[in-house]
Amino acid sequence: MQLLVTAGPTREYLDTVRYLSNASSGRMGYAIAAEAARRGHKVTLVSGPVELPDPAGVDVVRVVSAHAMLRAAVALFEECRAAIMAAAVADYRPATRRDQKMKKRRRSMSIQLVPTEDICAHLGRDKGNRIVVGFAMEDHDHHEHAMEKLRRKHCDAIVLNGPGNVGGESGEIEIFRDDIGWQPARSGTKAQLAGAVVDLVEDLIATGRRDAGIPF
Ligand code: CTP
Repeated sequence: MQLLVTAGPTREYLDTVRYLSNASSGRMGYAIAAEAARRGHKVTLVSGPVELPDPAGVDVVRVVSAHAMLRAAVALFEECRAAIMAAAVADYRPATRRDQKMKKRRRSMSIQLVPTEDICAHLGRDKGNRIVVGFAMEDHDHHEHAMEKLRRKHCDAIVLNGPGNVGGESGEIEIFRDDIGWQPARSGTKAQLAGAVVDLVEDLIATGRRDAGIPF
């Protein structure tokens, strides 16, 4: 099966050297890509800037900004059966990117930000009978916010995780499936959690095929 995985943060540059970003290490997305490849899937990983080596057997496309991640993901999704959206995409970018380093001044300044494109929602809208699995990073009203994201982004399932998971080697996730509802929470190393996410994707694809009357 051909799968697309997004991972890592994006960087949204203000000038030639400064950017907005977040603390995502990319570990979860890389672990998912590695596990899917280990099971024999053909995996393309679209990755923001992270300090991780390419997982074995995975095609890695490295990007910097949300816009570049969108372009790569949209093009690659054409050939894929499912997309797993583990990236921590910046929600805003500076309205302008200066082509010279801004000089320091002794007064306050404000930066105008504009929303970035929502890659997961974009793929969800155009998915047809393909599978889109989103992630939800929440620190309050977790279930409510995760379910709202699943609907808004047309996901088949959403993986809920909290800020405690960012950057670490292990964590806890809860999965909401549009067809079944909430699944029991799981905790473990990111490799173990990745196994649960790949199980989910394989099951969603199998369920879709069964519903369509296609032998699996
Ligand atoms: N996502 C995306 N493109 C964006 C923002 C988010 O593809 N511009 C994806 C993430 O990869 C994740 C899901 O959407 O799969 C939810 O991301 P999250 O950061 O939890 O939520 P946001 O939509 O950014 O909303 P908020 O920050 O308000 O919680």
